[in-house]
Amino acid sequence: MSTQTYRAWATVDTGAIRHNLDVIRRRVGDTRLMAVLKANAYGHGAVPMARLLVQQGVHALGVGDSGEALELREAGISAPILIVGGVIPGEMPRVVAADIEVNLHTVPMAEELNAEAERQGRTVRVHLKVDTGMGRLGMQPFEAVPFLHNLRRLKHLQLVGLCTHFSYPNERNPAFTTRQLETFNLAVEVARRLGYRDLTLHASSSLALFGRSDAYFNMVRTGIALWGHLPGGGAPWLARLKPALSLKTRILFIKEVPEGTPIGYNRTYYTPAPTRIATLPIGYDDGYRTALSNKAEMLVRGVRCPVVGRVSMDYTTLDLGPVPDARVGDEVTLLGGEGKAAITLDEVAGWAQCVPYEFLCGLGRRVVRVYA
Ligand SMILES: Cc1ncc(COP(=O)(O)O)c(C=O)c1O
Repeated sequence: MSTQTYRAWATVDTGAIRHNLDVIRRRVGDTRLMAVLKANAYGHGAVPMARLLVQQGVHALGVGDSGEALELREAGISAPILIVGGVIPGEMPRVVAADIEVNLHTVPMAEELNAEAERQGRTVRVHLKVDTGMGRLGMQPFEAVPFLHNLRRLKHLQLVGLCTHFSYPNERNPAFTTRQLETFNLAVEVARRLGYRDLTLHASSSLALFGRSDAYFNMVRTGIALWGHLPGGGAPWLARLKPALSLKTRILFIKEVPEGTPIGYNRTYYTPAPTRIATLPIGYDDGYRTALSNKAEMLVRGVRCPVVGRVSMDYTTLDLGPVPDARVGDEVTLLGGEGKAAITLDEVAGWAQCVPYEFLCGLGRRVVRVYA
């Protein structure tokens, strides 16, 4: 269907994703890849992205919770799926039945999962997550060691992996990451001594991909780099990554206004001179946050125009002063390139005062995803 019928749409360039996958593969060599598809694949669409990446040979898929895991299974994705987050007891029956792998964070969680697997006459593949310094999920090393010693008594759990997550895995603070890595290596050593020899070991997310080759082990979990962005911000092209998602809308309405005209809720903007104001059918329900009000810029006919007035639920207003020939129906680029100009994710996240991930994950349901 032509984009003419859409109020707002995000185009996902699948060629860029294949390219980013190549860039990542060249870095990590034979190391297996887990594509992290949490939060609707960071707004890119979990099911289409899973299909694309599995077809491109990605080994496993990482998701945040059971709902995301089941969505992929129900779409017919048969690749290994790991819930990297936590699983609560009420979710266990469906997780076990759908053959989803689970990260273990606590002893009670392991026991309940084992009991559910026994009820269903199944075995669940589990990964032990060790909290080496992220302070969010996972067993502390002093808990992980006795747990590994006792794990074989939970007969319906099969330990297939050991993992950790870095809190800030880049060059700016190598000492802390090095300590996390040393702690993880100790846990790996304990597991080996206990006879667990074929474990999938994974610690690295996208940031470590570009700074810590000592953290690859035999699998890396990558999210943001697949979508063409560097996790710590900065120019993606420095790592040869190509941003895959662009966000567009279309001018719905234009009005000519004199100097001193108030625009939008709370009258946060008054036109300083006569101008033309465009109303765009995209607002905070679509993920275009109110923090972007009176700060962000968008491209019309390749020229930057300022967002003026407060972003509302369904609409945003733009000063067309820099583009006198703009017309109703013209495309407007909120994120991504247009000719030689571009609005980058870093810029949008800066204006919105959020991390780049947040802007992508926040794209709303009404924004139509188009795959190119
Ligand atoms: C446990 C875990 N692993 C990997 C990732 C992927 O991180 P990134 O998108 O920076 O590659 C995330 C993302 O939040 C995560 O929570």
